[in-house]
Amino acid sequence: YDYSEYLIPHGTINGVAIPFFTTPEFRLDLRQNFKLRPESDIFIVTYPKSGTTWMQNILREMLFAEEKGEWADLPLTDRVPWLDHIRDMSVGDLERLPNPRVFKCHNHSPQEMDELFFKGDKTPRIIYVLRDPRDVSVSLFYNLQKAGKTISDWMTKASFTDFFKTYFRDEKVVFYGPWEKHVENWLSARHEYNILVVRYEDLIADSSKEIARIATFIGWDCSAERVREIADKTSFASVTKEKLFKVENGVSDSFLRKGVVGDWENHFVDVEDEKLMREIAEELFKKHGV
Ligand code: A3P
Repeated sequence: YDYSEYLIPHGTINGVAIPFFTTPEFRLDLRQNFKLRPESDIFIVTYPKSGTTWMQNILREMLFAEEKGEWADLPLTDRVPWLDHIRDMSVGDLERLPNPRVFKCHNHSPQEMDELFFKGDKTPRIIYVLRDPRDVSVSLFYNLQKAGKTISDWMTKASFTDFFKTYFRDEKVVFYGPWEKHVENWLSARHEYNILVVRYEDLIADSSKEIARIATFIGWDCSAERVREIADKTSFASVTKEKLFKVENGVSDSFLRKGVVGDWENHFVDVEDEKLMREIAEELFKKHGV
């Protein structure tokens, strides 16, 4: 894709326009025609690079592992559709998906999702994946370097420090707005909406435990043995081995790069940058008790 023409400002956060990887037509279609299935729809919401793909794989394995034929053959980004991306997709295609539907998106607030999907209903299940923003920034750096040519030539040449200062911390250019605003928007709505917060670091530390929490949240009865099996099948080592998944996912290796906690230590040259991001995160997590 040539993303440039799709980087449209779709809204503002504190007066700042946020670019979005989607078309105004698709958003209008959603606003007018999307029919929520509040009992069964599940929305995975994240700030980009926080573990979205991992969560998509976990839910697919949990809910759709037995599927055969058409549904089983779909690539991950079609079986668990990415709702805020340029897709050859209409609301009609979403209607065809059997229950339960699982969606992925990065929308910046519940209010925005309300307008497009929920339309006043606060009951659908939302899984919000949270990750240390220092690792998010490193992951986004490599992701955008890979996609760089279509986004900005500057990106392909930037050092991590340049990227962090002029992109990750610049409200005017970073996709989906600054990390802390996204997180603030979602964590502050935690008790108003039906949101389960899952941390990337907890998934790494004990994926079976987190998968069991997710199963409980979506009301899915699951043995400890099956939980362990899902953890194994969706581990970084397993999914990176599956060539099919990588190829079909299109943007594969930037979505499955290293899969560890703490790679920021190898990238933050400027200690002030690291301190800034660490303190922003600590304060936010403390405020919301996560
Ligand atoms: P890194 O770039 O740090 O490796 P998203 O899916 O939200 O775009 O996030 C991508 C990040 O999640 C990448 O981080 C990727 O490697 C990591 N990731 C994807 N699947 C994973 C898995 N099964 N286990 C651990 N990390 C995973």
